Amino acid sequence: MDIQPLTPHIGAEITGVDLSQPLSNEEFAAIHQAHLDYMVLVFRDQHLDREQHKAFGRRFGKLHVHPMNKNRSGDPEILVVKTTKDSAYTAGEGWHTDVTCDEFPPMGSMLYITETPECGGGDTMYADMYMAYDMLSDTMKDMLDGLVAVHDGAMPYLGSYGARLPEGQTYPKNEHPVIARHPETGKKLLYVNSGFTTHIKGLTRKESRALLDFLFEHIATTPKLTCRVQWEPNTLTFWDNRCTQHHAVWDYYPYSRYGERVSIVADSRPAA
Ligand code: SIN
Repeated sequence: MDIQPLTPHIGAEITGVDLSQPLSNEEFAAIHQAHLDYMVLVFRDQHLDREQHKAFGRRFGKLHVHPMNKNRSGDPEILVVKTTKDSAYTAGEGWHTDVTCDEFPPMGSMLYITETPECGGGDTMYADMYMAYDMLSDTMKDMLDGLVAVHDGAMPYLGSYGARLPEGQTYPKNEHPVIARHPETGKKLLYVNSGFTTHIKGLTRKESRALLDFLFEHIATTPKLTCRVQWEPNTLTFWDNRCTQHHAVWDYYPYSRYGERVSIVADSRPAA
């Protein structure tokens, strides 16, 4: 197995492993360590059916069932990511961390893209939330430490995607620390995202809005936080959802792009 970094701190391409086959313990340990070190792992030229995709996910934990996955794929553990000329939106077009409205958001997601737009484009950008935290001043870090933010599924699922839930069901909504600590590396990171975070508790509405807007702008306008994955058909990217954000770039209208995502539930809540 060979690991080639995409940037000095985030993203790596891994070659020499066939994800359709059960991983040896050595392969698993190397991928697990690379996931902690590089946060975004790109595996090209993989040929997986759904069971093989899910089996790779299960090596890292229990598979996540997305709160809005109403069996679009026929399998609650597979989230279809599909954009065509008839799409009103593309999922994930905006900086976000997956499903932080959940009490136990995914520890990681594995997106397997099998169809890329004929015109090119359709990349995914990823941003390093350790570095986003480290770049803040000590005064700002002190102010954010100990604050708690609300993450509400209604904002993207109803607000952006117009997805209504059946009568009586509610969108997941949970509180997480603004500055969290990665459960495995122990490093501090910025844990608010424009996809799900609605407000910071204990501040006035104006204060919370101003602070969140500053943090979201910091993420969106600091290119050195990022790496960019250019997909080819049959590429699988596995990101650490605890310390990154991502943004799907919809620059290929009216062309199509298709993939399927498996996510793995974290075994602990985000904690300070
Ligand atoms: C997602 O947010 O998981 C979708 C990312 C993508 O389609 O590139």
